[in-house]
Amino acid sequence: MDLPSDFNALFPDRISVLDQNLDAGRKPHGRLDAQTQIATVIDELGKASAKAQQLPAPITSASKLQSNRHHLYLLKDGERNGGRGVAVGYLKVGCKKLFLLDQQGAHVETEPLCVLDFYVTESLQRHGYGLELFHFMLEHKKVKAEQMAYDRPSSKFLAFLEKHFDLKHSVPQVNNFVVFDGFFRNRSAVQLRKAQPKRTEGEIKPYSLMEREAIRVWLPGATSTVVISPAEALGSYWRNS
Ligand code: COA
Repeated sequence: MDLPSDFNALFPDRISVLDQNLDAGRKPHGRLDAQTQIATVIDELGKASAKAQQLPAPITSASKLQSNRHHLYLLKDGERNGGRGVAVGYLKVGCKKLFLLDQQGAHVETEPLCVLDFYVTESLQRHGYGLELFHFMLEHKKVKAEQMAYDRPSSKFLAFLEKHFDLKHSVPQVNNFVVFDGFFRNRSAVQLRKAQPKRTEGEIKPYSLMEREAIRVWLPGATSTVVISPAEALGSYWRNS
């Protein structure tokens, strides 16, 4: 990794909250400006995360962070590297408009806070750093783990959620997001129940099959309900999210 050597100069806090501005709160000494160095750190960690999850391309990079309303929590260990600190990992979250299936199989429109990417450097995994990042984020966002949605969680992450938050019973979905039992409890009225497609109790059909089923929904600006496929509904909301 071609990373800045002095993390403590670049990241004053143990956990930095980064957004579109790529501002960790302090200007470092040296030739490159702080933003460029922070971008390098995010890009390199993003590549390592993609490799660890066997993804074809990074889902986290400085340019992606600059063009989305996401928050990236970056954890350093300031004691390592001869007291100059090292980047330990990051947790990236953001809100997404999602169509989810509740326990009864009814489609619900939601816009939950989602975990979009989560990575701790290989050699430092299982040392409690992931939990530290997660606790910090929950406190910062004033949210509970069960109220969040998880984008394609890996087996390690699922084990993490079960161990630390007792999240083990997921509600089956037709997209890549995972939510747990408590997600649909005490949701606010902001979530608009859109449609209740006919289905056998407990049956969740694959996305490809669902595409052929029509559902009746309210669309923004419409004066009455219209019939569209769940896939159209999902596509429309993905494009707008
Ligand atoms: N195999 C199975 N479970 C693992 C694991 C592994 N290699 N690494 C972490 N876990 C789970 C376990 O529940 C573990 O508890 P245990 O050691 O008693 O079994 C717990 O996480 C440890 O918690 P903590 O030390 O706080 O987590 P962490 O610092 O290792 O961070 C991840 C958790 C998922 C961020 C980290 O393992 C990681 O970066 N994995 C690779 C990338 C990834 O899968 N990211 C998720 C993207 S969706």
